[in-house]
Amino acid sequence: MRVAGEWHRTIGLSADGWSVSLIDQTVLPDRFQVILVTDVEQMAEAIRTMRVRGAPLIGVAAAFGMALAMRHDASDAGLERASRLLDATRPTAVNLRWALDQVGAALRPLAVADRPARAYQVAEQLADADVATCQQIGAHGALLLRSAWEAIDRARPVEIMTHCNAGWLATVDWGTAMAPVYHAHDAGVPLHVWVSETRPRNQGLLTAWELGQHGVPYTIITDNAAGHLMRRGRVDLCIVGTDRVAQNGNVANKVGTYLKALAASDTGVPFYVAAPSASIDWSAPTGDQIPIEERAGIELGHGKLPVANPAFDITPARLVTALLTERGVTEASATGLRRLFPERTE
Ligand code: MRU
Repeated sequence: MRVAGEWHRTIGLSADGWSVSLIDQTVLPDRFQVILVTDVEQMAEAIRTMRVRGAPLIGVAAAFGMALAMRHDASDAGLERASRLLDATRPTAVNLRWALDQVGAALRPLAVADRPARAYQVAEQLADADVATCQQIGAHGALLLRSAWEAIDRARPVEIMTHCNAGWLATVDWGTAMAPVYHAHDAGVPLHVWVSETRPRNQGLLTAWELGQHGVPYTIITDNAAGHLMRRGRVDLCIVGTDRVAQNGNVANKVGTYLKALAASDTGVPFYVAAPSASIDWSAPTGDQIPIEERAGIELGHGKLPVANPAFDITPARLVTALLTERGVTEASATGLRRLFPERTE
C-alpha cells in the first residue's frame, strides 16, 4: 500500500528478524503508526481490539502470532494453547481458522526444535500468498470496471459503492473489494467511489483514507444514504468484501451489507462480492451456520443503555451478482463455487 508515496505492507517481520510490525488501525486515519508485536498475547489483543482487522489480515496476523508463540513454547501443548487463544479472538472471519489450520498442519509433524523457524516461514508464505491473491482479484475485477466504463461510452467516471473496508488495510496489500479499483485506476479507467461510513466502527474512514493515498476520487456517505443514491442512478455497481462465504454462496460481511444488496437488487445495480478462497467456508452449507460476532455496546457510544451490536450480516446469494475470486468471476452458488474450485468436495 502506498502511504505518502511509499509502499508498505500492513504486516511483516520487523528489522530484528523476529518481532512483527503492523499498522495500528485504531489510530487511523488521524495517525499512521506502526507498532511492534512481540508475543502471542499481544497479537491476540491486536486482533480482538481491531488494531488489525479485515478477514485476510486477521488470518495472516494469527499466523504470525503462532510464530511468536513458538519462540517461547513450541511443545504440542504450547501449539494448541496459542492456537486456541488466537482462534477465540474473533468469530466471523473464517480466514482466522483457515490460517491456524495451515500453521498447525505444517508444525504438528515436526520436532519441537524445528517448529519456530517453520512457523515464521509459513506466516511469511501466507502473507505473500495473500498479496498474490488480492492482485489476482484486482486483475479480474478491473476487467469488470473497464466493461462498466465502456457501457457508459466512457462518458464519465464509473460510480462504485463500497461498504466497510475491504482495501489494503484489510489484507496484507491491495485489498479484496478495492483491488479492482486500484488496478483499474492504475490502468487509466476513471472511477469515483461512494464510501459508506460503516457505523459503529467507521471502517469507511479507513477506506477513504487509503483511496486518498492512492489518488482515487471518493465521497463519504452515511450508511443510510446508500439506497437513495442507488435510486437516483448515481451508482453503477457495488463491490464489497466478505468475511465468510458459505457453500451455497451466501455471504457474511460487515453489518449493513445486506441492506445495500437489497437496495442494489431493487434498483438494478450489480452487486459484486470479492471473495478470496481463504474466505470460503467449505464446511458451512448456508449462511445460517456462520457465527455473527456481537461486539460490545460501548462501540455505539451508549455505555449505559440497552444496545445490540451485531457486527456482521448475511446477504443471500440471490442478491449477489457474482463473486470475484483469485480464480476469476463466478456465480454465487454451490455450482459457481464448484466450477472454480473443483478440488473442494467437502
Ligand atoms: O470487523 P472488521 O473491520 O474486521 O470487518 C471485516 C471487514 O473488514 C469487512 O467485513 C470486509 O468487508 C471484509 S474483509 C476484506
